[in-house]
Amino acid sequence: MKPTILSFGALASGVVAFPTVLDQLQRSSANEKRLLGITPGFNAAAQYVSTTGAHTFVPPDFDAGDVRGPCPGLNAMANHGYLPHNGVGGHLDFIQGTLDVFGMAADMSAFLTVVGGTLDGDGLSWSIGGPVPSALSLGGLLGEPQGISGSHNKYESDASPTRGDLYLNGDDYKLQMDQWEDLYARGQANGDSYTLDVLNEFRSARWDYSLNNNPYFFNGPFTGVLVAPAAYEFIYRFMGNKSAENPEGYLNGDVLMSFFSMTKNDDGSFTHTPGNERIPDNWYKRAIGDEYSIPLLALDTVAAALEYPKFLSVGGNTGTVNSFVGVLPEDITEGVFNAATLTQGNNLACFSMQFLAQAAPDLIKGSGVISDILGAVTRLTGAVSTAISGLSCPQLTQIDESQFDQFPGYSEMKPDGTY
Ligand code: HEM
Ligand SMILES: *[C@@H]1O[C@H](CO)[C@@H](O)[C@H](O)[C@H]1NC(C)=O
Repeated sequence: MKPTILSFGALASGVVAFPTVLDQLQRSSANEKRLLGITPGFNAAAQYVSTTGAHTFVPPDFDAGDVRGPCPGLNAMANHGYLPHNGVGGHLDFIQGTLDVFGMAADMSAFLTVVGGTLDGDGLSWSIGGPVPSALSLGGLLGEPQGISGSHNKYESDASPTRGDLYLNGDDYKLQMDQWEDLYARGQANGDSYTLDVLNEFRSARWDYSLNNNPYFFNGPFTGVLVAPAAYEFIYRFMGNKSAENPEGYLNGDVLMSFFSMTKNDDGSFTHTPGNERIPDNWYKRAIGDEYSIPLLALDTVAAALEYPKFLSVGGNTGTVNSFVGVLPEDITEGVFNAATLTQGNNLACFSMQFLAQAAPDLIKGSGVISDILGAVTRLTGAVSTAISGLSCPQLTQIDESQFDQFPGYSEMKPDGTY
C-alpha cells in the first residue's frame, strides 16, 4: 500500500487500513495490559499523592523569579514541592518527581528530561518555563538556556491541547481560553468523562484548525509524531484519578480544571490563573508496577493514528494555510522506515527517537547555548539508545533534513523561537 498516512484525500474518507500487527489489538487498555502481562490493580495507600505538609500547594512567586510553562504536569509538581519550587530542576528531580506524582516509568522520564536538558537547558538542568538567569546554569555556556517555553518545534509542537501555536498566538505556552473551552465541553458531552477517545477527537479538531489557520503549521518527526500525541494521551493516562472501581483511571471535569488551573464562574465562564496548576486533594496516581512507559505511549499513539491517520503525517504547511505537504519517512530515513511499516511493532517510537538523535547536533548548535556540542550530543544519543534498547529498532544511521527546507515553520524559525 502506498503512503496513505500522507494523503489527505484518504484521511477524509476515514477508511484507511493499516497492515499492522496492532490491527488485531482491541483498543481497550485492558487488552494492552494483558498483552504486556500487567494488571494494574489498586492500592490506596501506595497510590495516594500527598497534597499536605511538604507537599502543600504554594503558588509560584513570579516576581521572585519562579518560572512555570506549557506543561501542566510539571507546573503542578513544582507548586506542590515535587520539583524545585523555582521551576528549574536537574535530571534526578524530574525522574523522581514524575514517578512519585504520576507514575511515569523511568525509560520515559529519563529520556524526556535529557531532551529537556539538552535542547532547552544547560545539559544538566532545565527550566519548566522560560529563560532562567545564567547564575543557575553551568559555566561555559554560549547563551541563556531558553527553557521548554522557548523550544518551539524542537520540543514544543503546534496543535497542542490548550496552548496556542507560536505563529498564531505569538507564544506557545499560554493557555488559550477557546481551546480550553472546547476541551472542557467535549468531556461534559461525554458524561463528565475525559477518555482517550474524547482526547483524540479533540486532537483531530486541533490539527484541522492549525492546518486551516497557521501558514507555518509543522508536524515534525519528533515533536509531531511523539511529543504532540503524548500531550493529549498524558491528560487521561496521568491526570485520571485511579481507584478500585477505575484502576485505569477516571478523569472528570473537576480534576481536569484543577490540573489546568481553572475555576468555573457562576455564569459558566472560566477563570484561568497562569501557573497555579494543582494536584487535587484525595487524588490517586497510577498503580505501582503500572508505570506509563515508552512502549505504552507508543501503543496509545499507534491506536490514535489508526483512527486518525493524519496524525502520523510528517510535514507541514508551506507558507499559506491548508497547503500541507507530507514528507515520506523513507525519504527522511534513507529507506529504513516507510509509511507502511511505521505503525508496526515499535517502529513509531524507533523512528521518532532515532530521528531526534540524528538531528541532535543541528538542534543543539541551533539553540546556540551549549558550547560542548559533542558532550551534549553524546548525552542525548545515550539517552535515546537507553530508551530504545528494549524495542528492537531497525538501525537509523542517517537522516535527510533538507526535506524540511520547504517548511517555513521549521526552516525560518529564528534561534529565539520566533519567525
Ligand atoms: C520530564 C517530564 C516532562 C517533560 C520534559 C514535559 C515537557 C512538556 C512539553 C515540552 C510540553 C509542550 C508540548 C506541546 O507543545 O504540546 C508539554 C505539554 C504537556 N505536558 Fe508535559 N512534560 C513532562 C511530564 C508531564 C507529565 C508528568 C504530565 C502529566 C499530566 C504532563 C502533561 C502535559 C500536558 C497535558 C501537556 C499539554 C498542555 C496543553 O497544551 O494543554 N507532562 N510537556
Ligand atoms: C478519586 O477516586 C476516589 C474513589 O472513587 C474518590 O474517593 C476520590 O474523591 C477521587 N478523587 C478526586 C480528586 O476526584
